[in-house]
Amino acid sequence: MTCAVHARELTYRYPDGRQALRGVDLHVEHGERVALLGPNGAGKTTFMLHLNGLMTGTGGLEVAGLEVGRDTVHELRARVGLVFQDPDDQLFMPTVAEDVAFGPLNLGLDRAAVAERVAEALGAVRMEHVAGRAPYQLSMGERRRVAIATVLAMHPALLVLDEPSASLDPRARRELLDVLAEVERTMLVTTHDLPLAAELCERAVILAGGRVVGDGPCEAILADRALLAAYDLELPAGFDLARVERRARPGGVARPPGGRAASPAQAGSYLNEMPSRTR
Ligand SMILES: Nc1ncnc2c1ncn2[C@@H]1O[C@H](COP(=O)(O)OP(=O)(O)OP(=O)(O)O)[C@@H](O)[C@H]1O
Ligand SMILES: [Mg+2]
Repeated sequence: MTCAVHARELTYRYPDGRQALRGVDLHVEHGERVALLGPNGAGKTTFMLHLNGLMTGTGGLEVAGLEVGRDTVHELRARVGLVFQDPDDQLFMPTVAEDVAFGPLNLGLDRAAVAERVAEALGAVRMEHVAGRAPYQLSMGERRRVAIATVLAMHPALLVLDEPSASLDPRARRELLDVLAEVERTMLVTTHDLPLAAELCERAVILAGGRVVGDGPCEAILADRALLAAYDLELPAGFDLARVERRARPGGVARPPGGRAASPAQAGSYLNEMPSRTR
């Protein structure tokens, strides 16, 4: 299945009249990792919310082989995993395992398959040990990883993350980077964390005023001080782009090197009491 994104002249105006997207043209190919950069209010989040049909603008938008529209929303949500900036927007069940199981259950998978998905997704973000805990008891970094697991459990073709490193301490940020570097999916990452973009993404796109104003190899975009300055972006003082080591792409499935997935039986034990409700 393709997981490319083709936006053509995508335009969106909020109900209050504010024009957030003014003709976005963006083409992301299968397997690419793209950092979406830009100043506050550029339209990055608005664009991302279009990718799984949470918002629908005018112009053309094809995602993962589907033309985005009312008829395709259900299928689109199974193909596109959107991780919101605030994990609390994503986590609402009594336990982590139930939150991660929620999407796969809604896909209609049987209990054994769901338990397998939960174990695999929590293993990928190294959060197997919190399966039985309540999300609200976790730290921000832990909640963010669990939020990513809820999306990975759906086996999305395209992973879209909005400010994944916001408000993480340096260690939590590094661990998140380790986790994301192991995810083998087409990835679109909105971030103000330019070093994270440099390590993770081969391509960077700058959005400003609801339009794409820069697009190219991440190193080239980040090395262009004038371009960055024009759009209120800057690398941290002393950051040496030449020393960045781009994370190698994983050869296999989303799993940490040497990482251990919880056993399906273990994850399943947390699911036994789950109500089989649907959203
Ligand atoms: N619910 C809303 N109603 C009206 N206007 C909105 C709404 N949400 C966002 N906007 C406006 O749309 C524009 C784009 O906002 P958006 O949240 O997409 O920016 P962003 O690039 O994600 O910014 P940030 O870096 O601050 O997250 C801004 O001008 C913003 O004020
Ligand atoms: Mg935003």
